[in-house]
Amino acid sequence: MIDIPVTLSKELKTKPTVAEEGSLGFGQRFTDHMFMMEWYDGEWHNPRIEPYHRLSLDPSSSVLHYAQEIFEGLKAYRAEDGRILMFRPDANSERLNNSAKRMCMPTIDVDFNVEAMRRLVEVEKEWVPHSDGTSLYLRPTMFANDEALGVHAAKHYVYFIICSPSGAYYKEGLKPIRIRVEDKYVRAVRGGTGFAKTGGNYACSILAGDLAAQEGFAQVLWLDGEHLKYVQEVGAMNMMFVVNGKLLTADLEDTVLPGVTRRSILALAKEMGVEVEERHIAIDELIAYAESGELQEAFGTGTAAVVSPVGELCYRDKHMVIGGGNIGELTMKFYNTLTGIQWGRI
Ligand code: COI
Repeated sequence: MIDIPVTLSKELKTKPTVAEEGSLGFGQRFTDHMFMMEWYDGEWHNPRIEPYHRLSLDPSSSVLHYAQEIFEGLKAYRAEDGRILMFRPDANSERLNNSAKRMCMPTIDVDFNVEAMRRLVEVEKEWVPHSDGTSLYLRPTMFANDEALGVHAAKHYVYFIICSPSGAYYKEGLKPIRIRVEDKYVRAVRGGTGFAKTGGNYACSILAGDLAAQEGFAQVLWLDGEHLKYVQEVGAMNMMFVVNGKLLTADLEDTVLPGVTRRSILALAKEMGVEVEERHIAIDELIAYAESGELQEAFGTGTAAVVSPVGELCYRDKHMVIGGGNIGELTMKFYNTLTGIQWGRI
């Protein structure tokens, strides 16, 4: 039995009503409690669940200067029979450790981490929303907290898990989004941190995302950092394309985030008998498929994004409308199967 003492909050926040759940959006509200522990002297100390609170940091805290930070995202769902289900928390815990190794940060025993999440969700079970398409999003986060300047791996770290009742990530919901293929800025390069879930990967993506948003795009699709030729991922999600009935997605290398949803969709595709190709996909190849009508569907996959249909891809002056801008058949099937599993219906 792992000892994780719980201190309950004396002042509970008002939870969203079922009527309010439809307008939750993503990551706007946070629950009453959080999990927390600290690393020093080479080990984790004082794991606990306590009232949600602000953090107090010294201005010299190393994360503020050198960005040694990693995080995860996963969800807990309320099944129709009342059970609360987490989706693949072990996979997220393993990925957190892979990110930690790249960023010279301490790892966390996977079973312990899953148990910490399970206990926190147990404490916060009333916060798991009821409506279709909503869930309790968990955000495990680790950061360096040495109180000194100087670039090297820190000796002090904080790990916490917070929870946020959430709905759709995109304001469009399940309506197909428009994406711009980014041909100037890059997200990741070989040997870099692209595969790690670290804040810097997101920080460097904001400018391109903002510029694309000004033109009405929901996100940018990143090309590889070396040749600006091969499609990689969309920051908040991995990308999948249905071409002549086959499912194509970028292979992982070390520049693409190994999405837990990506992995799940590829496994489902194989079970459904859909042929899968994980490989380099050149943007020119994709344009040719779009022009010949062979590009039938496109969608993104991610914990927050779930399965998000993409109705239009724009690369320079080429506008590729996919599937007439509607949700594709296979996209819908993946969405229904994945969410069916997540909500315990399947
Ligand atoms: C997630 O899908 O959980 C993520 O962390 C992506 C983030 C951009 C919301």
